[in-house]
Amino acid sequence: MKVMILVGSADATSHSLGLGKAIEAKLKALGATVEFINLVEYGLPLYDRRIERAESQDETTKVFLQKSLEMDAFVWLTPIYHNSFSSMLKNALDWHHSTKFPGKVVGLASNGGHRSPQAVDQLMIVARSQGLVTIPTRICTDESDYNEQFEITDNNIIERVDRFSHELVDFVNKHTVAS
Ligand SMILES: Cc1cc2nc3c(=O)[nH]c(=O)nc-3n(C[C@H](O)[C@H](O)[C@H](O)COP(=O)(O)O)c2cc1C
Repeated sequence: MKVMILVGSADATSHSLGLGKAIEAKLKALGATVEFINLVEYGLPLYDRRIERAESQDETTKVFLQKSLEMDAFVWLTPIYHNSFSSMLKNALDWHHSTKFPGKVVGLASNGGHRSPQAVDQLMIVARSQGLVTIPTRICTDESDYNEQFEITDNNIIERVDRFSHELVDFVNKHTVAS
């Protein structure tokens, strides 16, 4: 199975990135192929509907959309920005307007706001608009759950990353068997 991890922090090195790396390691151990995208470094342009209508996307966006279509599942990671998810992540998801992923699977995770679930709650509604099935386990961390190298140190979060990753793989496998 193929999973795209989208990291939405505006910091190149971030807690969200550390969380994404932990999830990536677990998913790979479970046999998944991971397409890891740290959006702040990836260089997607601002979503522009004229470009989408004309299908004149630049090479980066075209590759992003093509790869996205090949995925069985996604992981969306965001910092808490203004009680919500980041514009960087939303921009990437807006580019997905021309694709949609009916029946595919997404896992949601965030960092910030004292483990606030605000962003992942809001992302559930976004997932529904793309036809994605959201796994029940979400991961909400805060800065104190990490060391200075952005590695997770909190045992409850480590356990949650494990559960989250197994659930994502299970959901994809169940869906594949059923369809
Ligand atoms: C634009 C912006 C908005 C933010 N808004 C909030 C907020 O509403 N509530 C909060 O608790 N922290 C807020 N923060 C702090 C971030 O959630 C915090 O720095 C978090 O650790 C960033 O995660 P990251 O390291 O994964 O980027 C904001 C930070 C930025 C840059």
